[in-house]
Amino acid sequence: MNISNRDSFSSKFGVIAAAAGSAVGLGNIWRFPYLLGQNGGAAFLITYLVIAFLVGIPIMMSEMIIGRKAQRNVIGAFKHLTPGKPWFLIGVMGVGAAFLIMSFYSIVGGWTLEYIYSSAVGAFTNRTPAEIQAQYQTYTSGFWRPLFWMVLFMLLNVLIVLGGVKDGIEKYSKILMPLLFVLLVFLMIRSLTLPGAMAGVDFLFRPDFTKINSKVILDALGQVFFSMSIGMGVMATYGSYVSKKEKLGTTSVWVSMTDTTVAVLASLVIFPAVFAFGLQPDSGPGLVFVTLPNIFGHMSGGIVFGVIFFSLLAIAALTSTISLLEVVVAYFTEELKMKRNIATWLAAGTMTLLSILCIKFSALFSGFEFLTANIMLPLGGLFIVLFVVWQLKKIATRKELEESGHQMKLFPVFWLIIKYLAPVAIAFVFLNGLGFFGQ
Ligand code: PHE
Repeated sequence: MNISNRDSFSSKFGVIAAAAGSAVGLGNIWRFPYLLGQNGGAAFLITYLVIAFLVGIPIMMSEMIIGRKAQRNVIGAFKHLTPGKPWFLIGVMGVGAAFLIMSFYSIVGGWTLEYIYSSAVGAFTNRTPAEIQAQYQTYTSGFWRPLFWMVLFMLLNVLIVLGGVKDGIEKYSKILMPLLFVLLVFLMIRSLTLPGAMAGVDFLFRPDFTKINSKVILDALGQVFFSMSIGMGVMATYGSYVSKKEKLGTTSVWVSMTDTTVAVLASLVIFPAVFAFGLQPDSGPGLVFVTLPNIFGHMSGGIVFGVIFFSLLAIAALTSTISLLEVVVAYFTEELKMKRNIATWLAAGTMTLLSILCIKFSALFSGFEFLTANIMLPLGGLFIVLFVVWQLKKIATRKELEESGHQMKLFPVFWLIIKYLAPVAIAFVFLNGLGFFGQ
């Protein structure tokens, strides 16, 4: 794929499906509930929603505007728009973040594959919560088994990315995302009708504002960036495949709403069950993997539902990881002039090596998770809005949106947010969370 003959998305639904495919993933179903559980429930949810709508959507738009305007990968885009200036370093940080996120994310992607298998062989049927917890512990503390599934997950990514944008990424996202949604709604009903489920609903929706502190806010900010796939170049790269006719504001709003809805839905599946089965809401990264098997293990048809659910979760994870891989592959092919297949194998190979390190050293896993979500992505987002405000400037930004026939009534609001609110909010949350203003 070269710049004059770039691949692109074929339809409006395709764009939204692919961007939503990137956004919706383990971030919504694995990471959001576990962070919410650790950060006091409803208070975290509210903080998250405020940041997602006020800061997340405008940043997603800004990033897509940059990508579409430049028609290039994330590093090439900044070089093209501001030649000879250091802005391309935002892109460098983004490509770096893609490697780091992929290295821990694909381990969790591998867990979903292991759980398809465990569901299929009936490993959860009629087990006690303690037994299910022990299974998770044994599996995740091992080395070869998680390694095997991670490598398999990585290979699936390579297969899809080698297919290119239209035939690979777009085709898969369009069919499978809606299916995941339907299954989540079904499971939510199942979970909400468990005895004792209402305590979970309370935990999720009745806020205790005393729980909000600088860590809760930083975790929420990081999760907004992580979940919406913003601040590191995915939306710029996908934006570069979007036709000039597409209304980027509308696309961003749709993608963000879908993303948020799935996170809330997932929580409505998980927390009622957490309380119904007497599990710990703050048990961390294992939360989904110890909660859902309890539901499946005690319902009729649980084996079938377990297999379908973890398969869809694996697919949701895949539509996210292919966007991470695509950020790197677009850079390798366009800037470093590599062939697409060489670029794909090289990127995935390097990611696999990093991932092995994360399996071996679990501190690296959580370290990369914190570094990317809570630091690199918000920093990237901060510079992205500063870039639009200071370098693209108002007239060019307006034009990029107007050309698609966009309603411009809300433009002044968008501009105010990216000029003042977003940068100040990110800088503040960020410095506060890192302890700059004391705890
Ligand atoms: N947004 C994805 C998820 O929620 C993860 C991701 C982060 C993907 C950053 C791409 C870039 O699972």
